[in-house]
Formats: sequence, structure tokens, C-alpha cells
Amino acid sequence: MEIHKKVLKNAIVVFVLIAALSTTSVLAEDKTFADVCSECHTGGFKGWVSGAPNVKEKDKWQKFIERDSITKMREIVLNGTDDHKRKGGCETCSNSDVVDAIDYMMSLVK
Ligand code: HEC
Repeated sequence: MEIHKKVLKNAIVVFVLIAALSTTSVLAEDKTFADVCSECHTGGFKGWVSGAPNVKEKDKWQKFIERDSITKMREIVLNGTDDHKRKGGCETCSNSDVVDAIDYMMSLVK
């Protein structure tokens, strides 16, 4: 009986661990996106003011996806344009941070 209890307890511990780990991976976000880009690209006041396409609204992205290749998007965000602040305004972000954030955003909207 004691042994059964122990086995059951271990099984529960393993189960809880797996549940915790899988939740983290589902929620894992790109850090640059969370720190910098989400300010404008997940709606909210700044999103509304700037008119940035929201990653939760795929339809808002269609015109950008049709107009610009991924290479072009990287160019726009890395170098900045009249419509987009260079690196979303994050001067401390490396180019690869920004490219990863774009890839993450595209994985949400494509
Ligand atoms: C200050 C608000 C703001 C921040 C911060 C911001 N964006 Fe944007 N983003 C915009 C706006 C506004 C547009 C739409 C520009 C337009 O109409 O051409 C846009 C468009 C884009 C596009 C589509 C570009 C195109 O023309 O094809 C990409 C990709 C993008 N942003 C990536 C990012 C990434 C990655 C970050 C973080 C590093 C970021 N943005 C941070 C406001 C922002």
C-alpha cells in the first residue's frame, strides 16, 4: 500500500511538471517583441494612435504581407522609414533581436 501511494505521488509530480513546462512553451513570447514591439502591435492606446497593425488581427496584416517581402519588412524595421521608427525605437536592440521579433510576429499573423 505504501509503495502504491509513493508511485501515485511521483506520477502526480511528473504530471504537474509536464503541465507546467508545456504551459510555458505555449506562452513563450519573443522577448524583443514583448518589450518593444508589443507596445504598438498589440492594440491598446499606442497601437490606436500610431495605426500599427495588431498581431491579433490577421486581416490588418494582409496588405503588408502582399506588399512587402520578409526581406523588405526587415529593411523597413531595421533601417526605419517615415512610417516606422528604426528598430521600433529600440536602439539597444541588435539586428538579430529585431529580425527574430519580425519572424515571431509573422508566425502569429500568417
Ligand atoms: C511606435 C509604435 C511602433 C512600435 C514600437 C513598433 N512598430 Fe512596427 N509598425 C508601426 C506602424 C504604425 C506600422 C505601419 C506602418 C505603415 O503604415 O506602413 C508598423 C508596421 C510594421 C511592420 C510591417 C512593415 C511593412 O510596411 O511591411 C512590421 C514587420 C513591423 N511593424 C515590425 C515591428 C517590430 C519587429 C517592432 C519591434 C522591434 C515594431 N514593429 C515596433 C508602429 C510601431
